[in-house]
Amino acid sequence: MYEYAVAWEWLSFAARWLHVITAIAWIGSSFYFIALDLGLVKRPHLPAGAYGEEWQVHGGGFYHIQKYLVAPAQMPEHLTWFKWESYATWLSGFLMLAIVYYGGADLFLIDTHVMALSQWQAIAISVASLAVGWVIYDQLCKSPVGKNTWGLMAVLYVVLVVMGWGYTQVFTGRAAFLHLGAFTATIMSANVFFIIIPNQKIVVADLIAGRTPDPKYGVIAKQRSLHNNYLTLPVIFFMLSNHYPLAFATHFNWVIAALVFLMGVTIRHWFNTTHARKGRPTWTWLATVLIFIAIMWLSTVPKVLTGEPEDAALSSVQQKFAENVHFEAARDVVLSRCSMCHAAEPVWEGVPFPPKAVKLETDREIAVHAREIYIQAGRSHAMPPGNITEISVEERELLTAWYESAVSE
Ligand code: HEC
Repeated sequence: MYEYAVAWEWLSFAARWLHVITAIAWIGSSFYFIALDLGLVKRPHLPAGAYGEEWQVHGGGFYHIQKYLVAPAQMPEHLTWFKWESYATWLSGFLMLAIVYYGGADLFLIDTHVMALSQWQAIAISVASLAVGWVIYDQLCKSPVGKNTWGLMAVLYVVLVVMGWGYTQVFTGRAAFLHLGAFTATIMSANVFFIIIPNQKIVVADLIAGRTPDPKYGVIAKQRSLHNNYLTLPVIFFMLSNHYPLAFATHFNWVIAALVFLMGVTIRHWFNTTHARKGRPTWTWLATVLIFIAIMWLSTVPKVLTGEPEDAALSSVQQKFAENVHFEAARDVVLSRCSMCHAAEPVWEGVPFPPKAVKLETDREIAVHAREIYIQAGRSHAMPPGNITEISVEERELLTAWYESAVSE
């Protein structure tokens, strides 16, 4: 049974590895095309239907790229599509969501202090929110509101802020941020899957059949691409935020999330303007720094949302750890080797708050974090860092025995 915890940890690492690689491929190609698009130059000798061109140098060769706004007069023999970067990122992301947050719902998804959900309720809310989010977004884009690009962006911003607030009302702060990232990334990937690629397929089919393609397909795809452009940076912030509890484990986490979306716009605006050779709007960096300072300040407003309340009931699995015969011995190890750092108010010098929001002071906290203690200090030597508190081999064995005997009960 305990092999399961080790295998799970590795599965999670493999999924994360894949997810980061696919995300680099997706965001890399998307940034590349945005910059290419903005940098296109119009010249008189361009072929009929071509909108602009650009010369690039990379890896020892020169590239000469021309863009056809609707389509070329004739279909080229071979076309390279860019879609699997996006699909693979979404699929591997969902796999990670399932491994980390559905598999570890007790620990990472549900905070009984926020809302007492069962595992299945929490998972159902998670999946449903992603699907419903896309439907709302898509309908807004297709409604009359969608005719006005900037008006639509303002409405979408409100939707994102409300979603962010909503997630903090049902999940742990950590899961709330991750879900806001997943919610946004689902919209982005669904834009590629349901709108951008199908529209391009229609245009290609028209060309092959000798019909003149309707330019509206390109216009719609462009609007969705613009949204993706401004949403990319916030999504990455939310995905990384689970390593930085100050961002999510505070009272005003949803306000922080709202500000993060603004930073996505201010930073991208600088690059978009620069790549279009329309000047360098330095004010956007000033705005970004001011927003970031506001975020840092908000994070210090003390009210740790993910703190496990002592009165909340333990799940049946957690109960097993608390009642196991080895519990007292394991607790003594944790209290003497870990709690100086992993406390609400750490006594270890230079550790101002519990690292990764992991607190190991009470019986309850220790039982709740059993699997992490097992992986971090039993099976591996990740904790204590550099074995600074000199945990012995026997003590590690006690932690291992505690976990393994409880899960095989
Ligand atoms: C000297 C301070 C210190 C001590 C002692 C210490 N830790 Fe940590 N712990 C940290 C820091 C710092 C981090 C964050 C590491 C990082 O950023 O990757 C951490 C992270 C963790 C995490 C979260 C890992 C993750 O990536 O989510 C767990 C679980 C953990 N420690 C358990 C323990 C256990 C169990 C012990 C005792 C055997 C222990 N720690 C002792 C400082 C300490």
